[in-house]
Amino acid sequence: MNARTETGTARFPGAAQPPSDYAALRRDPDYAGLNHPLLDMLPAAAPTVLDVGCGDGAVSEQLLLRDPAVSLVGVDPDAAMLDAARARLGDRARFVAGDASAVARLFPPGAFDVVVLANCIHLVPGLAEALDAIGHVLVGGGRLVFNSAFYAGAESGADLPLYAELVAGARRAAQERGLPLARSAAGRPAGLRRTAGDYQAALAAAGFTDVVTTERTFTFGPRFLAAVCATPMFATAALPAVDRRTAAKLLTESLEKQLEKQDGRTPVTITRRCVYFSATRP
Ligand SMILES: C[S@@+](CC[C@H](N)C(=O)[O-])C[C@H]1O[C@@H](n2cnc3c(N)ncnc32)[C@H](O)[C@@H]1O
Repeated sequence: MNARTETGTARFPGAAQPPSDYAALRRDPDYAGLNHPLLDMLPAAAPTVLDVGCGDGAVSEQLLLRDPAVSLVGVDPDAAMLDAARARLGDRARFVAGDASAVARLFPPGAFDVVVLANCIHLVPGLAEALDAIGHVLVGGGRLVFNSAFYAGAESGADLPLYAELVAGARRAAQERGLPLARSAAGRPAGLRRTAGDYQAALAAAGFTDVVTTERTFTFGPRFLAAVCATPMFATAALPAVDRRTAAKLLTESLEKQLEKQDGRTPVTITRRCVYFSATRP
């Protein structure tokens, strides 16, 4: 178990970043801490790596730092994320539009030694289809590694009132501004309801072997929370009918109100578990 605790009530630098962006999260040291165990699961030799759901390249960058000679391809369905990744890392890696289930159509069979999905698998709706596609692009003996801090069991029960108040505050603010409050027709995304056991079962069904799973617990402070509030995933889950930038702004304001209430008292923190998987394609 690896607990990282941020103390102090300093306001978050992430608020200065444009909302609905992973930039604040990418710069957050707690986020790097979340990703280290994933990088530690990579095999020592990984000449060709596919970073699925690469976003703006937070983990792509770590992969390039780890091995500057790596042949790295990032894939993401979000064009703005890919533009950001290309702007930062485009001279050292290739970035391609697509989602996890499309990789078998985008790349030849056995094209990669390693496939990484960092902080992304919970956003992939068709897990079986995606794992099948990933299996096709992995070389025999190749490794798949992924992590998620959004699954059934990730949250601490003690934090549920804080999450509820964060969302309720953002929804109240939306209502005051006459913005729509509809819940998503699809409900809570399927990926957020998966358990660690669901991932294990899906890996086995897709034919992966040598599955290694670990879970770690992290305590995050207000800066990390603010960075998460600014991401489209969290904001659109709270306010699905509101455009994602406005949703992120309202959620960030709701967090600021929570922090103001806490001034001079115990700082706002949340505890989450993160699950990590490594599996081999036979
Ligand atoms: C939280 S970000 C993670 C970015 C990066 N991997 C990191 O760890 O910082 C999640 C990314 O998954 C992408 N994504 C969403 N649905 C996806 C899917 N079905 N297949 C692949 N990526 C997806 C999003 O566009 C977003 O860039």
